[in-house]
Amino acid sequence: MNLQRPQAIILMGVSGSGKTTIGRLLSERTGILYYDADDYHPRENINKMKNGQALNDDDRLPWLSKLNELLKENLSKDKSCILGCSALRQSYRDILTSGLGPSFKFIHLKGSFETIEKRQKERKDHFMPAKLLKSQFDTLEDAPEAFQVSVEANPEELVNLIEDHLFNKTEFGIVGIGTMGKSLARNLGRKHIRLSLYNRHEAGKEENVARNAKNSYAELKESLAFDELPAFITSLQAPRKILLMIPAGPVIDSVIDELLPLLQPGDVLIDGGNSHYRDTLERSLKLSSLGYHFIGCGISGGERGALEGPSLMPGGDLKAYRIIAPYLKEAAAKDRNGEPCCSWTGGDGAGHFVKIIHNGIEYGEMQLLAEICTLLKISGHDNDEISAILSAWNDTFLEGYLLKITARIFAFRDKKGWLIDRILDKAGNKGTGSWATVAATELGVPATMISTALFERYLSFFKERRMVLSKSYNPIIEKTGFDTSEIKKAFRAARLINHAQGFELIAEGGNKHGWPLNLSEIARVWTNGCIIRSELMERLSERLKVQEDILQQTETKSILNNTAGSLKNTVARAITSGVSVPALSSAANYLNGITTAEGSAGIIQAQRDFFGAHTYQLKDDPNQNFYHTQWE
Ligand code: 6PG
Repeated sequence: MNLQRPQAIILMGVSGSGKTTIGRLLSERTGILYYDADDYHPRENINKMKNGQALNDDDRLPWLSKLNELLKENLSKDKSCILGCSALRQSYRDILTSGLGPSFKFIHLKGSFETIEKRQKERKDHFMPAKLLKSQFDTLEDAPEAFQVSVEANPEELVNLIEDHLFNKTEFGIVGIGTMGKSLARNLGRKHIRLSLYNRHEAGKEENVARNAKNSYAELKESLAFDELPAFITSLQAPRKILLMIPAGPVIDSVIDELLPLLQPGDVLIDGGNSHYRDTLERSLKLSSLGYHFIGCGISGGERGALEGPSLMPGGDLKAYRIIAPYLKEAAAKDRNGEPCCSWTGGDGAGHFVKIIHNGIEYGEMQLLAEICTLLKISGHDNDEISAILSAWNDTFLEGYLLKITARIFAFRDKKGWLIDRILDKAGNKGTGSWATVAATELGVPATMISTALFERYLSFFKERRMVLSKSYNPIIEKTGFDTSEIKKAFRAARLINHAQGFELIAEGGNKHGWPLNLSEIARVWTNGCIIRSELMERLSERLKVQEDILQQTETKSILNNTAGSLKNTVARAITSGVSVPALSSAANYLNGITTAEGSAGIIQAQRDFFGAHTYQLKDDPNQNFYHTQWE
């Protein structure tokens, strides 16, 4: 096996751990150039150390930046290199590897203070006095991303271990080579990441799945394919990075249980499915108690996104995230500025929570588009015209993936004509819309458009009942009178309200669970790769930096003041024409409710107090005391 792509191999450890000896030996054996970070210290740093003074961050930072340039220069010339560098702190390692993507490997030469002190005392011709060793140990921070080797072994043995790690093992494992797993594997394979692929063997159903994928795609040629877990696990570099791409639900737990006896502390499992965030929380707790890491990662973009760059929403222990981040960022879609659409969302469960709400917003927007198309249709437009109208909208600020694909759907014909007219009007779902709705009810957030879109899918399922009832009630459908520019404005308003509700739900989830969810960053991650990517999302990612309440943003106020009238008119006319527009009407009602200073809830309070002595508060009581009245 080879390195498959140029890499920077960084031998780290305190002074005296043997970096130079091991680095030179590794260089001799592999032919990869060795650099000693000590040679890049400015004279002042060397003098300081000679005088027995420990270096501080100010001394180290320019030196680390210089070393980072050196590594980048080598990689830009397609050359691997070995660097011996103490790299004691996480922040130092971040500087060293900045801009290297996943093309670096840390090897930590680990030893006890006593062993290394003994060695240092024996060492001649080195500027670092033995007494500075204590400060090096004090500065040293755990390097969870590093392959750890003990300096107790002799140099030959150590280099054997390092060579085996670098050349015989793969970097990243994927369990589940179905549609999404295969596409992600191909995505990483195209970036020359060395992969191990595993798919279970089920006679007659799933046979040689990983091997077939490897043999079918040139980008997977260098990967290793398995249908047995022990061999798959042994093939991976430590700490192991394993992405589970299997259906959400109990099967995740059974695969984790199969993996557990094979893992080592420090290994990272990533669940890339649409799991419920509470399950992710539980799995994280269980695995961390055993010394393993678990990251729940929302992945959006479907099969194509997985192949060409999905939007990724990882959550879990930040230290564990750092281990896998270079690979996730490499796979992710890139935003307008070339930054990966992948960002740590927060602690355990946060990533899957954010993905659930993503899907809720997706449900809302899909339902809105379905209603808009229905209105265009009953206004007399044929499918080609609807497609053309949506395409034209897509060239404006309304641009978005869901709008674009809906335009394509309406233009699509097969031998029998327009396909869309023959698709049965029963919408399926895989559960995330329901989870988003439950989250809204648990958090007390009126995300009415998500719940409406979900219930509308449920309603659609009652096809036979709808057919029977349509005969009993004969709703009149007026075929004329919807103005396209009014519909466009209605869509603009309702879509913005759907986003406002979704982001409010995310913010509330963050507060409740103590996740530091950054709304602007989440919107940025959703600007490419995912199903709800759009021009609006681009704009929101900027506006959310300034004002997290979308309805309070200046731009939103101006848009809604300009479009809300069209939304309300469209809803009113649709309803009197006998057309069901639940998402548009939910948006209009929400806007009416949330902008009403004096609402009707006082009546609810009076009723509650009347029949149940539940008490109420009074508008003119500054102390907000609770009162009860004997109503009868
Ligand atoms: C995505 C989608 C995806 C989801 C499907 C099906 O972001 O790529 O949200 O994760 O599973 O869209 O969802 P429903 O079957 O519930 O519509």
